Amino acid sequence: MKNWLLVIILCVCPVYTYADNVANPVQPGQFIATNDYAQTSPDGRVAVASVNPLASSIAMGVVARGGNAIDAAIAAAFALGVVDGHNSGIGGGCFILVHMADGRMLAIDGREMAPAAATRDMFVVNGVANPELSRTGALAAGVPGSVAAFDKVQKLGGKLKFRDVILPAADLAEKGFPVSPALAERLAATADNLAKFPASAAIYLDKNNKPLPAFSLLQQKDLAGTYRAIAKQGPRYFYNGDFAKKTGRWMEANGGLITYKDFANYQVKLRKPIESEFAGYTLYGFPPPSSGGVHVAQILNILEQFDLDKLAPAERYHLIAEAMKFAFADRAHWLGDGDFTKVPLSLTDERYAQIIAQKISLDKTTADIIHGNPDVDIEHLMNKHTTHIAAADMDGNWVAITSTVNTSFGSKVVIPGTGVVLNNQMDDFSAQVGAANAFGLVGSDANAVAARKRPLSSMSPTLVFKNGVPVMTLGAAGGPTIISQVVQTLLYSLNDSMPVEKAMAQARIHQQWNPNVLFVEAAMPIEIQQLLKQKGHDIKIWPSMGASQAIQLREGKLVPVAEQRVILQNAKKN
Ligand code: GLY
Repeated sequence: MKNWLLVIILCVCPVYTYADNVANPVQPGQFIATNDYAQTSPDGRVAVASVNPLASSIAMGVVARGGNAIDAAIAAAFALGVVDGHNSGIGGGCFILVHMADGRMLAIDGREMAPAAATRDMFVVNGVANPELSRTGALAAGVPGSVAAFDKVQKLGGKLKFRDVILPAADLAEKGFPVSPALAERLAATADNLAKFPASAAIYLDKNNKPLPAFSLLQQKDLAGTYRAIAKQGPRYFYNGDFAKKTGRWMEANGGLITYKDFANYQVKLRKPIESEFAGYTLYGFPPPSSGGVHVAQILNILEQFDLDKLAPAERYHLIAEAMKFAFADRAHWLGDGDFTKVPLSLTDERYAQIIAQKISLDKTTADIIHGNPDVDIEHLMNKHTTHIAAADMDGNWVAITSTVNTSFGSKVVIPGTGVVLNNQMDDFSAQVGAANAFGLVGSDANAVAARKRPLSSMSPTLVFKNGVPVMTLGAAGGPTIISQVVQTLLYSLNDSMPVEKAMAQARIHQQWNPNVLFVEAAMPIEIQQLLKQKGHDIKIWPSMGASQAIQLREGKLVPVAEQRVILQNAKKN
């Protein structure tokens, strides 16, 4: 029934593809009407999956022009900054994990960096962390890294020119597209804060400061101009040119700390991926400043200490929840930017997993993990912030990009004349020991604010190999639930041999130690929920959790999979 509804809606919408655009310019308001969140090129050699059909179609348009999976992924990333700018964009940061056709394996860190003037207590007012400062406005933003990271990976492994992967998204920004129901919902939820910044209000609100409704046309001419300037001048426009100057001036006038020099000093970092083994596969994850690679490996190592195939469903969910709880407790204590703090990579050792496994009872929850219980904004936990793009080709390029401006529309600041939404990634630092960020995550000194430091992230782009051959790329959006989603997809697809789409469809759970609550998708059978309660879990039901993207190599074919929960939600709202 839901699928029928989607098909009917798609049939009555005008159809526009970027390919059409070359020969046949379209009017504003025409757009790609497709449910192709996950697409494969006609020859089957390149596949991409994203949370937006426009972005996936732009990626495929680039493939039609001779691009490979790296070009496709970057084209999708720029397009998502246009159509899904509440989640990601060039005013934010990203992690890119890539296996290139020539065998190189790179972890490209385009995470935001705190400005040079940042100080440990910059968000503490009268002895208490003030979340408003780290979430909204000038102080909330870190120096964005996405443009530099996109440029880096595209130059290292793409086949096209950098401008070729930007300009399709510039055209889309210029011509406009209809506001999706999901974007309309985010606009409604953030309108009051967007209204505080005239350049943001001018794009996203109407003349009465009301949020643009679903299906109205959103054109972003300034953003198109910024994309075109980057296409022409390269990343130097952003880091050493007009964009950096405009941002520095705005910051100075509005109480921010980021300067032109901070932009000039921004550097992409090449990191060593975290390597681990699970169910006979080799996994590569992203190292600090991501916590994703460490804790995905740690949780799976703990699970492997048990006979997973013999556990009843409730016992298995219980075990996963306990393993997550121990891992997130470690995250709060140990994790931070590895350039500033020593993160013990022994967290991913099997011996360490054995020690934790001995503390886990299959009958009841472990009660004595010491932690605080600061307030948690459940609303933020439930929203699907951030975005993930999976791309792969038959030449051996396998790409996992997770990209974000942090919470919806980041800091809510658009730098006038640029159309660029600045992130609020400074909130991912631990503003004060024990103070929760927007996702309820707490941290220690390891993740305290410092000049030029990168805030800790949960983004978990992951690549999976079998006998040295890449067989899967995956990742997710959704704050700390990213780690939980990736763990569960890997568990079901690698240990239980489910096709990845089935693995992603299983009822998900999330337990992040603080709050000490087990979040459970409503799809989980009631009997299992009851058994989990009997084991001591404080259960909260979520209608649906997460937004994962993956590509799996199956019988010699690339199978891209986009998050069904997102597709179904959009279909329902239509
Ligand atoms: N901003 C969310 C994350 O990086 O985990």
